[in-house]
Amino acid sequence: MRQHVNPLSKNFNAIERIPSLIEMFGDPKLNLHLDIGCAAGEFLFDLALENTSWNYLGIEIREKLVKTAKFKVREREIKNLYFVFGNANNIFNDVQSKFFIDNVKSISFYFPDPWFKKRHHKRRVIQTEFINILSNSLRTGSLIFIKTDVKDLFDYMDCTLSDNSKFKKMDKKDFNYAESFNPNKLKTNREKHVIVNQLDIFDRIYIKI
Ligand SMILES: C[S@@+](CC[C@H](N)C(=O)[O-])C[C@H]1O[C@@H](n2cnc3c(N)ncnc32)[C@H](O)[C@@H]1O
Repeated sequence: MRQHVNPLSKNFNAIERIPSLIEMFGDPKLNLHLDIGCAAGEFLFDLALENTSWNYLGIEIREKLVKTAKFKVREREIKNLYFVFGNANNIFNDVQSKFFIDNVKSISFYFPDPWFKKRHHKRRVIQTEFINILSNSLRTGSLIFIKTDVKDLFDYMDCTLSDNSKFKKMDKKDFNYAESFNPNKLKTNREKHVIVNQLDIFDRIYIKI
């Protein structure tokens, strides 16, 4: 399994049709959380089984991981979890995605690929144009969560989000996790690895104003 794919490759220009909310979820009216770069989706399986009053949608660019995750959802008959294959940037650029963005209450970008070399920064999932699309389409009060163990990437993501006047940083002290998509603060695979290896974690929450 390839660990990294180049999101700018023309292989990802075409995007899969995103089904309507009613096709994706048992109850389309539940709050919707989006996890971008969800890998095999273990974090979302944990969340969906634990918090049945939320719907979860994972977007991942490695097709094989998405196929396996979709198979597991069907096999376990989980009604509040769905996976979409593709480059998240292209998916959000597409007009047909507008209907589901409108329903999104929160988005996580957890441990996105750092693409360390400067000439590869354009492959990073958080880009100014992407954040502009989100700022124009998310409802007021929607939340964006970022988390990484790479300080340079954190500064880059923080700068990109802070440069957009429609997103405001939230004070974590005042944040009520109990009402969020992740009330029990479950951890992604990468986060578990980072904790075991005692590396730093940088995270922040932004609210659409
Ligand atoms: C380092 S992994 C982190 C996975 C998971 N979020 C975690 O914390 O364990 C980053 C994931 O993002 C996916 N990814 C990278 N760029 C993407 C893009 N533009 N759209 C969708 N997924 C992307 C990668 O394939 C990979 O699975």
